[in-house]
Amino acid sequence: MTFYLHTYGCQMNVRDSEAAAALLVAAGHEPVAQERAADLVVVNSCSVRGKAEDKALGKLRLLVKSKRTHPGRLVGAMGCMVQRLGPALLDQVPGLDFAVGTRASRHLPPLVSAALAGAAGQLVLGTADDTDVPHGHLAATPSAYVTVLLGCNRRCAYCIVPEVRGPESSRPPRDIVAEVAARVADGVREVTLLGQSVLNYGRQGSDVWAGEPASPGGYREPFPRLIEAVSAIPGLARVRFTSGHPSGCSEELARAMAELAPVAPHLHLPVQSGSDAVLGRMRRGYTAAEYVAAVERLRQRVPDCAITTDIIVGFPGETESDFAATRALFEQVRFDNSFIFKYSPRPGTRAAEWPDDVPDAVKEHRNRVLLDDQDRIGLARNEAWVGRTTEVLAEGPSLRNPRRWSGRNGQGKIVVFAPVEGLQAGDCVRVRIERAKPQTLYGVIENRGMTS
Ligand code: SAH
Ligand code: SF4
Ligand code: F3S
Repeated sequence: MTFYLHTYGCQMNVRDSEAAAALLVAAGHEPVAQERAADLVVVNSCSVRGKAEDKALGKLRLLVKSKRTHPGRLVGAMGCMVQRLGPALLDQVPGLDFAVGTRASRHLPPLVSAALAGAAGQLVLGTADDTDVPHGHLAATPSAYVTVLLGCNRRCAYCIVPEVRGPESSRPPRDIVAEVAARVADGVREVTLLGQSVLNYGRQGSDVWAGEPASPGGYREPFPRLIEAVSAIPGLARVRFTSGHPSGCSEELARAMAELAPVAPHLHLPVQSGSDAVLGRMRRGYTAAEYVAAVERLRQRVPDCAITTDIIVGFPGETESDFAATRALFEQVRFDNSFIFKYSPRPGTRAAEWPDDVPDAVKEHRNRVLLDDQDRIGLARNEAWVGRTTEVLAEGPSLRNPRRWSGRNGQGKIVVFAPVEGLQAGDCVRVRIERAKPQTLYGVIENRGMTS
């Protein structure tokens, strides 16, 4: 069958979709670039906020309807919302051919075969001890995701992820290194190591490094050892990872980020709020001062390190002074970028037992205020790049203006520049920055840097 995958949610879902597509290809199905050309459409869903689920449900209902004009079409769902809703999903989307939960997507090909043979409304959910998840890939792009840590063991009061993704499980370092090396052999130049709380890698369960040689750089903590091992893979230009948590921002992590040349000077470090009262109720496990100290530890060793974050506005009980504390934290840390979300109660989480008492208009207002703060701070931080030269991994023609190219520098900033003759996606170029916007840098290629 021809197939198309729709992906909602985070990078982990993007990665899971790629692995699912690789499974379908191995089973003889053929990916197509447009949904309307597909006999099989699978929606990889997200549950993190109510709106994310509404989108996936709406999409699935439309797809089921499209069977009328597309005879023989199969419609399936996968991912976090499937895992959360379970059998209720089949009631909410009548006509769905199959649904497969997180950590269970290896069942996709047999589900498709059974659906082709006439089975309807099939459901397979993942279980907590399922670690046999697919790690296949499609054709190489300059940049690739590699999952290193499944699930999450934190219990942030607002968050559905631990329920839908299950407990933490660290992949063996050997498997990760082998996967990255295979990607590099295919032409990948940059990898992003993924985990919900990625710095927790190797901190649960048995010692993932048992039996492996000692770290050449003398690192003792499991995550710094991992980025050291990945950085040693020849031909890999850049190593990224996401998301961080302040508890993992150790002195050793800072040292590893400073010493390991391929490791990008960027950490996505969600803070969620600047108010200790709110952080406490969120059960984030740190105070605003501890968060700032973690950022300082990093910046001390890696002065150019970009710090980006996530914020939730309108968490239950968030007062004007709590919100003012978040704004003050923005001024103190000066994030390079931030993703701001309006609190959405998730059934079954602790916070959902408390009244969702910040009116939507107030959430909206706080959201806008922070976006404006971030724009101003982001612009100032980006303007500091004007006149400097930065190394950019070229990705291809820019979406807005195809005569220009775009890529990202180590800090993760989008850099737009005029291409030179013979430039290829995946080349590293040195770009002198001439102009800045809150989200983008503009410049000219100075000379070709570390092209392959
Ligand atoms: N594992 C990552 C976050 C994954 S969810 C981490 O902890 O760093 C991505 C972001 O969605 C979170 O950082 C948080 O800001 C937001 N989020 C999670 N649950 C939410 C909810 N119930 N309502 C609004 N935003 C939420
Ligand atoms: Fe959710 Fe917290 Fe785990 Fe992130 S660390 S996935 S916010 S529970
Ligand atoms: Fe959404 Fe699941 Fe990611 S809930 S944010 S797709 S882990």
